[in-house]
Amino acid sequence: MLYASLKLIHLLSIVVWVGGMVFAHFFLRPATQALEPAVRVRLMHDVLERFFAAVLVAVVLMLASGVWMIGNFARQVVQSGGSFAMPLGWTVMATLGLVMVAIFGHIRFVLFPRLRRAVSATDWPAGGKALAGIRTWVGVNLALGVLTVAVALLM
Ligand code: HEM
Repeated sequence: MLYASLKLIHLLSIVVWVGGMVFAHFFLRPATQALEPAVRVRLMHDVLERFFAAVLVAVVLMLASGVWMIGNFARQVVQSGGSFAMPLGWTVMATLGLVMVAIFGHIRFVLFPRLRRAVSATDWPAGGKALAGIRTWVGVNLALGVLTVAVALLM
């Protein structure tokens, strides 16, 4: 029951993170392209601020539940006299997951503050540039997220 609950938390976190990236990348951003820069940059800033706050919580929950599941499984194996070796699929998932977290850190703590500063200064060209950087890295993380889900389910 504990293990199943941890997996539920893990998967819900990933649904919020990866699903949110799909929405932002394929639906929200293209729809805002026709707006005036002042409206578009401010709208994207406000949406991303809320989304990144939710992703921060999702990342913490995903990491905590993932590590907890590994610990839980390892303890059971050792208690029943076996020796624990991390399955390859889990190792690849955790490695890709950590890369995704590092990229998210770059987006949230380096690129997003640039967008925030541009909005405060009503510097729309700088805001557009910051948004372009965020878009590139969200695209990379989205691809890694889909790959990680495939690895988790197929390996
Ligand atoms: C450091 C980060 C991560 C750790 C430590 C971790 C660890 C784990 C563990 C231990 C499981 C349980 C596997 C099982 O019971 O068979 C699991 C399940 C899963 N994880 Fe992760 N994970 C991480 C990141 C990710 C990421 C980034 C994704 C996708 C974007 C992901 C997708 C999944 C999926 C889809 C499952 C369900 C697999 C199944 O039920 O067969 N994980 N994870």
